[in-house]
Amino acid sequence: MKICVVGGAGYIGSHTVYELIDAGHRVIVIDNLSNGVRSAVHSKASFYNADITDVCALDMAFKTECGAEPFDAVMHFAAKIVVPESVENPSLYYYNNVEGTRSLLDVMVKNRCKNIIFSSTAAVYGETETGVCDEKTPTKPASPYGETKLAVEKMIGWFAKAYGMNYCVFRYFNVAGAHSSLKIGLWRENMTHMIPAVVETAIGIRDRLIIFGSDYDTLDGTCVRDYIHVSDIAHAHLLAIDLLQKNRSEIINLGSSKGFSVKEVIDEVSKRHFVNFEYGNRRMGDVPKIVASNRKAKELLGWSPRLGLAEIINSDLAFRQKMAEIG
Ligand SMILES: NC(=O)c1ccc[n+]([C@@H]2O[C@H](COP(=O)([O-])OP(=O)(O)OC[C@H]3O[C@@H](n4cnc5c(N)ncnc54)[C@H](O)[C@@H]3O)[C@@H](O)[C@H]2O)c1
Repeated sequence: MKICVVGGAGYIGSHTVYELIDAGHRVIVIDNLSNGVRSAVHSKASFYNADITDVCALDMAFKTECGAEPFDAVMHFAAKIVVPESVENPSLYYYNNVEGTRSLLDVMVKNRCKNIIFSSTAAVYGETETGVCDEKTPTKPASPYGETKLAVEKMIGWFAKAYGMNYCVFRYFNVAGAHSSLKIGLWRENMTHMIPAVVETAIGIRDRLIIFGSDYDTLDGTCVRDYIHVSDIAHAHLLAIDLLQKNRSEIINLGSSKGFSVKEVIDEVSKRHFVNFEYGNRRMGDVPKIVASNRKAKELLGWSPRLGLAEIINSDLAFRQKMAEIG
């Protein structure tokens, strides 16, 4: 099939492109490289450097690729993703994430593309009563980032109704790990992601790690999160193509259904390397616990995570050690 991956030079998008190409699909990547790198795009994928807020550039790419046949599916990963930045600059987040998606949807309609898979987030739930979320848990985002994702979910729903589109909205929990080839992974300066931060401390890229808050109402006082390997996320996107081909539209959590506290993650990494950490104050916007129910993904897609916390840490560690050696 012919699949367009928007944001395919970024972390999760690039892994999905690898998975799609391995499965024999033709892949076209669109990315403005604002947070992605050209070298992460699989050499067998076509690449367009375009911004989703630029309707003309987007339409040109779609026209070139969809001349005879529209894309079988568009996978939309492109977004600004840093929660504190979204609090400081909501305008940027609404423009890029919401307005950008509106122009992408318009261009899809114009070019007869009716299937979209959208990367949403557990951040749409905010703080919940139990900390365990299924897709019916009320949404209450605690940041402009989460709000923009929820706004896009709703916009996609209305577009689907009006223009006969199908959608699969995936709400990812905490994505981590690297590709088994170690060619791609998450590699950036000053990352706020939990597992890379712990692993970087373990291998000496950071001096020490601050745990934000030790007085939450959890087993050890630190925040509990649900970690999921990036390759498991990528695999779910392949399964979703079949769902869309059956004209189904769904919102589905992608998580492991298991929660690990920050301290438990540090303990797991400490089995391999010493981690220098200390406790600091709580960080604004952090909820005590957020864990997925992944029952719907199991039932509808036959999907369940193949890799657990130990494998996620091993793969991130191997990737980070390789990148540190390259320099
Ligand atoms: N990483 C996680 O744990 C996580 C969790 C939940 C949801 N998500 C969602 O998954 C998606 C992918 O996340 P990621 O971690 O791979 O982020 P990323 O920043 O690595 O990837 C996003 C890609 O989109 C591109 N992009 C951003 N704005 C663009 C624009 N206006 N036009 C064209 N390209 C643009 C960036 O250059 C980047 O390559 C995002 O939508 C994010 O909200 C990620």
